[in-house]
Amino acid sequence: MNSFKTNHTTPVLPAIARGIEILNNGGIIAIPTETVYGLAANAFSIKAVAEIFRLKQRPAINPLIVHIASLSELATVAVEVPPLAMKLAEAFWPGPLTLVLKKTPLIPDIVTAGKPTVAVRVPGHRLALELLNRLDYPLAAPSANTSGSISPTNPSHVTGSFGAKAPYILDGGNCERGVESTIIGFTGDEPVVYRYGAIPIEAIEKICGKIKTHTSDDVSPAAPGMLSKHYAPKTRTLLTADPAALVSSLNSSRTGLLLFDRPLGGVSAGPVEILSPTGDLAEAARNLYPALHRLDAMKLDVIIAERVPSVGIGMAINDRLKRASTDESV
Ligand code: TXA
Ligand code: MG
Repeated sequence: MNSFKTNHTTPVLPAIARGIEILNNGGIIAIPTETVYGLAANAFSIKAVAEIFRLKQRPAINPLIVHIASLSELATVAVEVPPLAMKLAEAFWPGPLTLVLKKTPLIPDIVTAGKPTVAVRVPGHRLALELLNRLDYPLAAPSANTSGSISPTNPSHVTGSFGAKAPYILDGGNCERGVESTIIGFTGDEPVVYRYGAIPIEAIEKICGKIKTHTSDDVSPAAPGMLSKHYAPKTRTLLTADPAALVSSLNSSRTGLLLFDRPLGGVSAGPVEILSPTGDLAEAARNLYPALHRLDAMKLDVIIAERVPSVGIGMAINDRLKRASTDESV
């Protein structure tokens, strides 16, 4: 695809070389990104992509995100790119912004679940970029967890999700952002939010002006990440603006608390996770999935999660908490 990719002057890291070998043989590996770990395979290979769906137990109707090395590769995966999409890509790539665009024939239908559009981004992670720069194909990669469960933000989450079936993991430590990319699609030239994520909508609106949110139903969601039940712990989880009141009313001895910035004065309960003692939403986002993973492993009766301020990345945190929780949430 790109001959320039072979002109590397720096020696390849052994971990990257191992990843390349597996991918070139049609296999899948877990890769770090700035948002969450991805389960990656050659996006041009139907067979390799089918293996992602199988391992993740992902419904075939749920399309994958394609990761490219740079904006200059966009033309290999997408056509008829709206000018505003170009502006957003220039502003936020590499970074946690995914654009849904009209696909090229190079992208097989299995990647897009038969849709004429492809979701694409350039990840903002040194190792992911180093890898992509040495490959002759883009990587299709959903989050590296079993379908519907809590997303992975470090290698142990990936191993925890897949057990003995876990693929080779390119270890990039903890993910810096901690929630998935923001997904923007287009109706004609008009941008629409498909999923709240690590790039705040306010930052996107600085470039696009006021932007609409795609309202989806669970039968035919535009992005199945918008399914109302997703990103979910096994433990019953309740989302509330007033955790103290809910703790008192529940009267359960095995209650875990997922709180934004401070403990609950005077209310006794089980384990407590504070997402950011300084009230920093970026830190809260980084700690969200690790805290959910820890609480979920404790086999509690219930997890009570506190809503965070609904600004910036806080909108993505609340969105994930809402999807993690059940209908009974208050
Ligand atoms: O941050 C991220 O986006 C991470 C990292 C690994 O890049 N990936 C991720 O992938 O969150 P996944 O599969 O967990 O979520 C992908 C979302 C899904 O909600 C899917 O429905 C949506 O992207 N999507 C993919 N292709 C689409 C398309 N053509 N139209 C609408 N939505 C699409
Ligand atoms: Mg996911």
